[in-house]
Amino acid sequence: MTVADLPEPRPAAGQVVVRVSAAGVNFRDVYHREGTVPGGEVGAVLGVEGAGTVVEAGPGVEDPRVGERVCWWRAAGSYAEQALVDAAMAIPIPDDMSDELAAASILQGTTARYLCTDTYSVRRGDTVLIHAVAGGVGLLLTQMVKARGGRVIGTTSTPEKAAIARSLGADEVIDYRGFADRVLELTEGVGAAVAYDGIGQATFYDSLAAVRTRGTMVLYGWASGPVTSLDIRRFTRSVFVTRPGMIDYTPTRAILLERADAVFHGIAEGSLSVRVFARYPLEEAARAHRDLQSRATTGKLVIDVGL
Ligand SMILES: NC(=O)c1ccc[n+]([C@@H]2O[C@H](COP(=O)([O-])OP(=O)(O)OC[C@H]3O[C@@H](n4cnc5c(N)ncnc54)[C@H](OP(=O)(O)O)[C@@H]3O)[C@@H](O)[C@H]2O)c1
Repeated sequence: MTVADLPEPRPAAGQVVVRVSAAGVNFRDVYHREGTVPGGEVGAVLGVEGAGTVVEAGPGVEDPRVGERVCWWRAAGSYAEQALVDAAMAIPIPDDMSDELAAASILQGTTARYLCTDTYSVRRGDTVLIHAVAGGVGLLLTQMVKARGGRVIGTTSTPEKAAIARSLGADEVIDYRGFADRVLELTEGVGAAVAYDGIGQATFYDSLAAVRTRGTMVLYGWASGPVTSLDIRRFTRSVFVTRPGMIDYTPTRAILLERADAVFHGIAEGSLSVRVFARYPLEEAARAHRDLQSRATTGKLVIDVGL
């Protein structure tokens, strides 16, 4: 990754140009860079999430207007001073929220929300397994599951990360080693109602073993590498397996805005805490990726373009 001068973007019909003040760093950006999903080809500008001020609107765009502050979770090229955003994907930032907080919460917050309301609707009393519980999505999901009356068993790699997850509500934080047996122990042999697994290769089959009969296994990412084959012999009981993506859960603009509103409302009323782990200047985006991949981080990493 390197910083380069590119021509200023010009908006096509249905697009706006935004002067970016902060861009969110997500594991998805690593997948783009490494090529496990398309979008990170040489020459591409990375980053899908950000916040800033609209500086130019393309033909036919009346909303958002020039001067309005917006954030987004789906615009290729957000690690930049200016980004092209589809007007349909631009989300107004509440007046009392900073651009940085919007960029730090919009993607992971709305992801956590659809995972626990739509992919599997967490009910009071459900035991929920959350891997990488101290990560960006993990900490937000933990708080939302707790608010819905669930019990969180989380995995993480260090005692420091475990303490952070506990401070935000995780009931049990355990090591990855032997986690399936431990989940069964903690649920009297029943297993978790749902496993949220963003680790992939290293945890997939053990997550399956930790889910109760007719429970749900949610493979929503692959920080350790993609799951490249499914061995049906390792499905020892009936389990629903799904690989959700946010775009499929956001079929309308009304849903996009409603979900963002739920996240912003939680932040404003204090029921949802967003932890920004570190801020990086644009020139140090590569360091942000190294930190994220080294498992040294908790919560959110933000590129402050204005620094
Ligand atoms: N499907 C969707 O709609 C969607 C949307 C957003 C994010 N996601 C997924 O959500 C997951 C979390 O994303 P995030 O941005 O919030 O990242 P993150 O959880 O803050 O960072 C990844 C964490 O994964 C854990 N991990 C375990 N094995 C790892 C390995 N081999 N290499 C690197 N990390 C490893 C580490 O936590 P420990 O040290 O605690 O193990 C690390 O801190 C990712 O899989 C991402 O793709 C999916």
